[in-house]
Amino acid sequence: MRDDDLIKPSRVKKDLDKLRTEAECLLKEAVSRDEVEAVRIQSLGKKGNISQILKLMGQFPAEERKELGKLANEARDFVEDLIAKSFERLEKKARQKTLSGQIDVTLPGRKPQQGHKHPLTLTSEKILNVLQNLGFDLVQGPEIEHDFYNFEALNVPSDHPAREMQDTFYVDKDVVLRTQTSPVQIRTMLSLKEIPIRIASMGRVYRRDQDVTHSPIFHQIEGLFVDKSVTFSDLKGTLTTFVEKVFSEKARIRMRPSYFPFTEPSAEVDMSCFQCDGAGCRLCKGTGFIEILGAGMVDPEVFKASGFDPEKVSGFAFGIGVERVAMLKYGISDIRHFYENDLRFLAQF
Ligand code: DAH
Repeated sequence: MRDDDLIKPSRVKKDLDKLRTEAECLLKEAVSRDEVEAVRIQSLGKKGNISQILKLMGQFPAEERKELGKLANEARDFVEDLIAKSFERLEKKARQKTLSGQIDVTLPGRKPQQGHKHPLTLTSEKILNVLQNLGFDLVQGPEIEHDFYNFEALNVPSDHPAREMQDTFYVDKDVVLRTQTSPVQIRTMLSLKEIPIRIASMGRVYRRDQDVTHSPIFHQIEGLFVDKSVTFSDLKGTLTTFVEKVFSEKARIRMRPSYFPFTEPSAEVDMSCFQCDGAGCRLCKGTGFIEILGAGMVDPEVFKASGFDPEKVSGFAFGIGVERVAMLKYGISDIRHFYENDLRFLAQF
């Protein structure tokens, strides 16, 4: 071995110092994982600087070997630590970059839109609630209905215009899409058999009819009260409470003689116009009153078809158009708004 091949311990120390500072500088400036990795290989890899230095240890006497070994290990720990920190630093930077590229944290939050009930649901719930408080039980009937319940038992003669193809959707000769909720009266009386009966029923009804105030599918609420001595004034009291609670405490009703096959006497029921309070305005077409429902005393023929003796019981019935009430209550001029699911319309309720 030549003289100058002998490496002095001081040289090793210097080399270790140099290695530390070099690695420190390079890592400080590294902007990519590759650059950090290159430093790692150069300093700590199998053929790296520290490995080279450690290989020389054998040359030194034990005392010096111990000291230099310790220094070399410290240098390795130091560089290892720096490398780990550099990787961490780069990762954090990359994360911030992607986040800031996609999310503008300064934007105001987006408020989730809160859903709510449809105006027809609000209206029918209100009406049913008033009726329930008056003691009416809620019942349901089928939308696909037998001719017997929809017409026959309701005393609608076979030559009645309501049965004509232009008014009714026929499923087959004897089965229809119910044109009214009144068949629920028959179903209830036939199944309960006992008085008192006090029911309300809400649901879809179908008619071949379509314009700004008529839809082929719409909703009705039927009311029926049967007992020993139900009178016309009971009907009037019930309907008065209905308009007071659904529209306004000031509302009054007016009953006009009318005709329905299933009631006798029958009445068209108007309420005092809630816009002008009866004085006359555009809404009520100058009359001071608005027609809102049909009603009457249950016809003896209907009782007979439903298994009751008209000599022993009496009753009243009424049918309310839910769309009609909602249009009046909310001032809606076109029935189609209810079914178009336009949020600009729905969000107003
Ligand atoms: N069913 C009638 C219609 O759809 C409304 C009606 C009128 C129901 C009088 C009744 C009633 O119960 O008594 O036009």
